[in-house]
Amino acid sequence: MADNTNRVVDIHTHMYPPVYVKMLEGRTTIPLVRKFVQDPEPRLILLASELEALDNALKDPTAKPPGRPLTSHYASVDQKLHFMKTNRIDVSVVSLANPWLDFLESSEAGGIAKEINEGFSTMCEEHCGKLYFFATLPLTAPLDVLKQSIQDVKNLKHCRGVILGTSGLGKGLDDPNLLPIFQELADAELIIFLHPHYGLPNEVYGPRAEEYGHVLPLALGFPMETTIAVARMYMAGVFDQVRGLRMLLAHSGGTLPFLAGRIESCILHDGDLVRNGKVPKDRRTVWDVLKEQIYLDAVIYSQVGLRAAAETSGADRLMYGTDHPFFPPIESDIQGEWHSAIFNADAVDSTFGKESDVARAVMGGNAIRVLRLDEE
Ligand code: URA
Ligand code: ZN
Repeated sequence: MADNTNRVVDIHTHMYPPVYVKMLEGRTTIPLVRKFVQDPEPRLILLASELEALDNALKDPTAKPPGRPLTSHYASVDQKLHFMKTNRIDVSVVSLANPWLDFLESSEAGGIAKEINEGFSTMCEEHCGKLYFFATLPLTAPLDVLKQSIQDVKNLKHCRGVILGTSGLGKGLDDPNLLPIFQELADAELIIFLHPHYGLPNEVYGPRAEEYGHVLPLALGFPMETTIAVARMYMAGVFDQVRGLRMLLAHSGGTLPFLAGRIESCILHDGDLVRNGKVPKDRRTVWDVLKEQIYLDAVIYSQVGLRAAAETSGADRLMYGTDHPFFPPIESDIQGEWHSAIFNADAVDSTFGKESDVARAVMGGNAIRVLRLDEE
């Protein structure tokens, strides 16, 4: 067996398989892939914050097209492997990128989920030991189809969990109808990789939003979305009702490590909740849940963020990620090193000490243990 202590594992790395790209090419509203007269390369347009720019670019051939170039890094497994090699990553746990299958008609979601999950499974089998994956659930499908898909992915050898957005069955993750789904995932020992997509309402970015590119939705909208989704789950008691539930939160838990204390204080000082017996003395605090049921990725690009994440959930629950193929280098060759990947690895080294046991654990050891990446 390979020596695990120095292996680098990327647990936050996405793909859009060719079948998914094809689906996006056929769409006229977001998410979609399309070419513009302004730019012959196909572009990937995903976010609600891009809607206005999309509208403008379609009306005005001099307007800047929205989105990002759909480079070969999104769909090609060879590119994934090349990226891993050039950025010193030994193992990747690949997931479909946002917005997954959230937008599909109920009747088509089950079949497409099966196709995508089996495709990922075959890809991992062909690169055994190097690639694993988080599966995609057909959340808009009828409940029996959704449940069957959990049973299906549970039996796929390289599947280690599922990636999930915050919309759930349409009403968010505190929806009681999701409890049996969470229970099934827990019973199947499938971790949930919780990832944002919807951000915050466009209005919060103000009338000058277009001047600021993707910065505010990605840097702030995404993490707040994750924060709110998990806080809602906590307030609804989901973590107590499904004690086996394990979640890996994207972007180091949004702002949860920073805001957990404030959430606690607001709970303790909410007169109605306290008087109605909803804040029992023996309840598990937000901190308890973050330490017992939550894992955090290390995709936060700073020592301050990494320290907060490690103090909140434990350095033994923190796992390196890159967010490839998003955040490609702008000025240098995209076939070389990616600043976004190296910067995150450097942040781990500078926070925990280069080649220290903690840094090695964050860079790979934790993922190998938590996701059982040494099991065939
Ligand atoms: N932008 C996205 O839409 N998704 C990511 O995962 C990262 C950036
Ligand atoms: Zn991501």
